[in-house]
Amino acid sequence: MVHVAGRVEQLPPYLFVQIRQKEREARSRGIDVISLGVGDPDHPTPGHIIDALNGAARDPAMHVYPPDEERGMTSFRQAVAQWYAKRFAVSLDPDREVLALIGSKEGNHHLALAYLNPGDVALIPDPAYPAYVASAIFAGAQIIRIPLSATTGWLPALRDIPTDQARRAKILWLNYPNNPTTAMAPSSFWQEVAEWSRSNDTIVVNDCPYSEIAFGEQPASLLCSGALDAPLVEFNSLSKPYNMTGWRIGMAVGNADIIAALRKVKENTDSGIFGAVQRAGIAALTGPQDNIHRMVEIYRRRRDLVVETWRNLRLPIDEPQATFYVWAPIPAGMRSIDFASLLLEKTGVVVTPGVGYGSQGDNYVRMSLTIDDLRLEEAMERIRSLGQWK
Ligand SMILES: Cc1ncc(COP(=O)(O)O)c(C=O)c1O
Repeated sequence: MVHVAGRVEQLPPYLFVQIRQKEREARSRGIDVISLGVGDPDHPTPGHIIDALNGAARDPAMHVYPPDEERGMTSFRQAVAQWYAKRFAVSLDPDREVLALIGSKEGNHHLALAYLNPGDVALIPDPAYPAYVASAIFAGAQIIRIPLSATTGWLPALRDIPTDQARRAKILWLNYPNNPTTAMAPSSFWQEVAEWSRSNDTIVVNDCPYSEIAFGEQPASLLCSGALDAPLVEFNSLSKPYNMTGWRIGMAVGNADIIAALRKVKENTDSGIFGAVQRAGIAALTGPQDNIHRMVEIYRRRRDLVVETWRNLRLPIDEPQATFYVWAPIPAGMRSIDFASLLLEKTGVVVTPGVGYGSQGDNYVRMSLTIDDLRLEEAMERIRSLGQWK
């Protein structure tokens, strides 16, 4: 048998693959499973975006390797720059500071390949979206986890990162609004981050695909400090705001040297995004944005239902201000895997154990709100029937 590379062997089992396996097992035992596991919008992509794809797909100019290949079409990069100016008051040069991505997940992965040599240090919060760890492992990096907690609003205390770690680190991964904790970062935090990254000569990336899914104050961009000479880069995505997870389109924005390095990796890896999908992306970014507001109201209603259910169990919970997740504390003394298994056994409801995002998440489970209203109501009804947790 041919052995896979060490970097593949080292990968922890992908959380969602494990969850799907548990779901399948439960279904095969005849349980009517309701999954709140994966975050994937349950509403379709808005019609005007699909129309743009349809039109562009008939244009033979779109059938060849995409124009400008790995950078993204000029018109797409311009649309991203306009969107960032309008949405975040951040001014970007579409030629040097914007790159099209096959989703923000791709950006995270290629950033690791662009900057991390074997043994280099990558700082990754705990808890965090699992793809950052995988990307750092692929690059052979040494991973240092930065513990987060509710007491600091799930934000890292930058000044508590030991100086030697901060100096050795080449990349610090951040993700606000955050999956799984739902935390948001204020502009003042981004100012602090810009100074920290400059003084330690460490790249700070904000993986930001949830910037549009917020219930009150609109999330700020890492780049709001305007410090584009600092090593800062942000990944954003059309997946969540426009219900386009399957389309695979996003963008990297920020420091021109980092964008150039990412581009170099992409030049040698992929040949960019289907031109017709980029045209649809332009329609998404420049067209009506009312669908986002509609989706946010749907997620708000669902969020309120889950929060209320949790409070009925007598489990204290903060109301999420962003993302389409609820990060819910579990009964004291329990482990998140045990709680998730118990919930599946007793109610058929699948939730994601917080430990899948890091050891600091072990007192929580994550529930996704991207599920049909009636099924969510049914799931909450079943959980409510468990009565109060003592
Ligand atoms: C924090 C975070 N980053 C990236 C992604 C992937 O986004 P995309 O579809 O743009 O690759 C997700 C998807 O769940 C996510 O939660």
